Amino acid sequence: MTEELQRLEAEALAAIRDASAANALEQVRVRYLGRKEGRLSAILRGLGRMAPEERPKAGAEANRIKAALARALDERAASLAETANPGSAAEPDLSLPPRRRWQGSVHPVSRAIADVWAIFRSLGFTRVRGPEAETEWYNFVALNTPLDHPAADEQDTLYLAPGLLLRSHTSPVQIRTLERHPPPVRIVAPGMVYRRDTYDATHTPAFAQIEGLVVDEGVTFVDFKATLAEFARRFWGPDTQVRFRPSFFPFTEPSAEVDVKRVVVREDGSREETGWIEVMGAGMVDPAVLENVGCDPERYTGWAFGMGPARVAMLRHGIRDIRLFFENDMRFLRQFA
Ligand code: PHE
Repeated sequence: MTEELQRLEAEALAAIRDASAANALEQVRVRYLGRKEGRLSAILRGLGRMAPEERPKAGAEANRIKAALARALDERAASLAETANPGSAAEPDLSLPPRRRWQGSVHPVSRAIADVWAIFRSLGFTRVRGPEAETEWYNFVALNTPLDHPAADEQDTLYLAPGLLLRSHTSPVQIRTLERHPPPVRIVAPGMVYRRDTYDATHTPAFAQIEGLVVDEGVTFVDFKATLAEFARRFWGPDTQVRFRPSFFPFTEPSAEVDVKRVVVREDGSREETGWIEVMGAGMVDPAVLENVGCDPERYTGWAFGMGPARVAMLRHGIRDIRLFFENDMRFLRQFA
């Protein structure tokens, strides 16, 4: 029996050595070690029928040969793979293209803020910041908004403590700036603002605003319209139209809402106009506001605006639901990489 096993081993090892390709080697494996037809497997299965005194020795020998053949098969497989594709067994293939890795990108609202700022900077503006926790004086009273005005109601504004609140707009930065710097003033002030709004497709309780303020001698509404039109053409393209609609804010007189209409050029070259979309509230600084900061309204005039960069980004990218900016869904954010 042992002899027969050893003959089988020698034969199998020779066959393994002679196998010149992976499929031939697989046939050798099946012929000797295959579960059903394999010759060694058949011998192992037949151990039960042997004389009890021969069984342990033959069994041990058969198991040794089985392990030896398995090892020889593995070695031969590795050497065949090495011949077919040199270096493959040892090293990764450095010529393969890399897997794409997500590197992160600037959020579309942050990008809108940066691009708006870049244009105003080139027009001679300075960027300033103000605190997000504000007093009633800066958020309302100094801005000519009495505390019994609906905007000051707890229904609309998030109060931190009596008299202390999360700013509901960036306009308090107008007051903080004019208190410290006499005109001429030309600033933009981006930052977060907070309102008790329900979270839906067009509202969120926290959102960014960009305040703009110009105060100097001889500043007129014409100056404002010209600056805004220049901004809009640079930001949305030369064919952008700007429209001013009469509106009301306690801190501007007259007040306006500014709409833009832009021309979208499609991939096939066709052009399409969007509808009018509101992008900011604005107006001439109310003389009462200038008085509140010790600025002589007989000498100085100014204009101001408050722009919503999320709206601006929605208009820019054709996004219909503002919540997409907050949900951090990678399928959405990846588009802006
Ligand atoms: N603060 C106003 C708002 O949040 C916008 C605005 C700013 C209007 C400056 C006029 C001037 O709605």
